[in-house]
Amino acid sequence: MTDPLPPPPVFRCDGERALVTGASRGIGKAAAIALAQAGAEVTLAARSVGECEETAEALRAAGLAARAAALDVTDRAAVRAFVAAEPPFGILLNNAGTNIREPFLEVRDDSLEHLLDLNVRAMFTVAQAVARRLVEAGRPGSLINVSSINGHRGGVNRSVYTATKHAVEGATKGMAAELGPHGIRVNTLCPFFVETPLTAGILSDEKFRAALERRVPLGRILRTEDLLGAVVFLASPASAMVSGLALLVDGGFSVQ
Ligand SMILES: NC(=O)c1ccc[n+]([C@@H]2O[C@H](COP(=O)([O-])OP(=O)(O)OC[C@H]3O[C@@H](n4cnc5c(N)ncnc54)[C@H](OP(=O)(O)O)[C@@H]3O)[C@@H](O)[C@H]2O)c1
Repeated sequence: MTDPLPPPPVFRCDGERALVTGASRGIGKAAAIALAQAGAEVTLAARSVGECEETAEALRAAGLAARAAALDVTDRAAVRAFVAAEPPFGILLNNAGTNIREPFLEVRDDSLEHLLDLNVRAMFTVAQAVARRLVEAGRPGSLINVSSINGHRGGVNRSVYTATKHAVEGATKGMAAELGPHGIRVNTLCPFFVETPLTAGILSDEKFRAALERRVPLGRILRTEDLLGAVVFLASPASAMVSGLALLVDGGFSVQ
């Protein structure tokens, strides 16, 4: 008699609670929908709670579990209070972030402060709050910090953004090393240019867009749906032994 077949990998998040920051639009919104479709009970957090609620309502209407939460991730006290008052989140998509494109010689102090505050400090505080709650409860988890290809390379007019995304990569390595013994995995998702409200302006410049696309082996700018397999993979037991990974979703851009 032959052995029974081994079970297939589990690309599902059933029974997990997922927190997605920056879920009112763009990558966060698409990822929140994908995580709910993969079985997670999703909390969509952002400042624009109305937009989160609209998505949550559509998910509930489809029989999925979702709710909205008003949260400014740069408000450290609010983040800590919010996470502490909740049952632990086994999945975090630490996604809230932005970019301000400025030449290095003209970077304003307030841009520098804002990007450090949102892309680094808030990312750190949210991950720390979620991880503390998991450790306290003795629960495993998967934290996904949204980085960028600029977590790995530079670019014109993006010295601050590049610095913040390298910080995301650095913090993730430290978190993965320290949280592994608690059964908590920490990885980054590193997209190339994705069509979202954040990039709508720059990608409407046809010359810029065409020049970018020529540099992508797979030939195009990403759409949010291109990231969702990677998000569900990192969130689910399919990646049970993956931690400290920077998962580039870039159409091959970074090989050149
Ligand atoms: N689009 C790209 O090409 C690209 C490429 C690589 C990496 N990324 C990264 O992917 C992430 C999402 O980008 P995106 O393109 O989806 O951006 P987006 O369309 O501008 O959406 C940003 C999200 O972050 C939220 N947010 C901003 N400030 C916040 C705050 N203080 N508290 C809570 N939420 C806040 C926004 O919600 P509210 O304004 O409602 O709060 C919104 O939901 C960012 O970390 C970005 O760096 C994007």
